[in-house]
Amino acid sequence: MKLNNNTVFDCSIINISKVRNEAGNIAIVENEKNIPFNVKRLYYLYDIPGGESRGGHAHYDLEQFIIAASGSFEVILDDGENKKRITLNRPDMALHIVPGLWRELDNFSSGSICLILASHKYDEKDYIRDYPEFLNLKK
Ligand code: TYD
Repeated sequence: MKLNNNTVFDCSIINISKVRNEAGNIAIVENEKNIPFNVKRLYYLYDIPGGESRGGHAHYDLEQFIIAASGSFEVILDDGENKKRITLNRPDMALHIVPGLWRELDNFSSGSICLILASHKYDEKDYIRDYPEFLNLKK
């Protein structure tokens, strides 16, 4: 299967719209309004032990919004040529990851929650979990 030739520069940080008031804030993500794909699945990582890293794979089709709903962590994006390390530390900030990129997540702060909005339902066939295979597909 052909892998998208997107680069790390096709990913961006998007500010999530907010309603603020004295009693606290609401951050809102709504299909067809402020997210560049339709959300089919939401999942979150929590209770992540110190020193752990997650990810370590690429996707053929999946697009994602990654949000530090609580605490902070870092995302390393890799397109086979360029790498970019991005810190997520605000619940009103989303990293938009396009398909075809290798990603890893590390440096999770204690109690952090990594919220992911995804463009497709879970499908193991959409994953590339072998880094040399990823590099080969990017050529
Ligand atoms: P994986 O996506 O590899 O996790 P991470 O990138 O955070 O390290 O998924 C880990 C396991 O969980 C894997 O066996 C597949 C399973 N899984 C589902 O069954 N459904 C899902 O929606 C997700 C994200 C994972």
